[in-house]
Amino acid sequence: MALKNRLAKLIIDPAFRHPGFLKFVFAVDDLTGIDVVKALAPFKMLPASKQLFSRCFAHFVSGEEISLAAATELSTCAPAYAEHKYLLLQASEERTHLEHFRDKLAQFGLGEAQLNRYVAPAFARFGSLIRERTGRGDYVAGVIGNNVVVEGLAICLLELGCREMRANSDEISAFMDFVLEDERHHVRFGERTLKKLHESDAIDHAAAEDFYGRMWDTTRDVINDIPDVLDAMDLSPAPLLRDVKAFYDARLAAAGLVFAV
Ligand SMILES: [Fe+2]
Ligand SMILES: [Fe+2]
Repeated sequence: MALKNRLAKLIIDPAFRHPGFLKFVFAVDDLTGIDVVKALAPFKMLPASKQLFSRCFAHFVSGEEISLAAATELSTCAPAYAEHKYLLLQASEERTHLEHFRDKLAQFGLGEAQLNRYVAPAFARFGSLIRERTGRGDYVAGVIGNNVVVEGLAICLLELGCREMRANSDEISAFMDFVLEDERHHVRFGERTLKKLHESDAIDHAAAEDFYGRMWDTTRDVINDIPDVLDAMDLSPAPLLRDVKAFYDARLAAAGLVFAV
């Protein structure tokens, strides 16, 4: 069981990633029943690993900031009162996620001012692309950008890339379940909203396709920017890109939208 314990990659500094040392750590685990990896709090991580862990969480903080701003802005251009109210609720949930991920980063010693240095250079483009469209009242682009692309990427990372992190921290695991439940709901809202708009012929297909293409290019750039962070999450860029694209396309197809992207 022991070597499956990938959080060791985060906790044990690269210099100590010696198979013999890992074997020793896991032997202690097997003999004493003490889960050594789990027992090591993030504060005890060695500097290089701590930085990597911080970079994982910095992306979650940044993603939540983008979603909070997008949901707030989208609520102002929602065509119906029920959607306006839902988006305000979504924004309040994003704020809760953001505060928790920020608390975690502060525990790791990463201040707000340093955050951007830890995030993939292309990441901020998600926010600016969405803001540019919602700023001119483009509701469809805002829903595709936030409720399908940004939230969909978060779901894929939380589901596919955090298994070992969850296995090693009950607190992180419980919080990730809580966040995932909310994010799935936000994506379902996006899917249903796009379906309704599509069925009432309220979507400019060419414009939506163009915007989705820009968002997909950004997803690709972000994923290709952070191979080391993905490696720490036991993910590789190529299969992740395939899975994320399949997730996006399935959501859009459920809404009746097929884009040549
Ligand atoms: Fe969120
Ligand atoms: Fe969300």
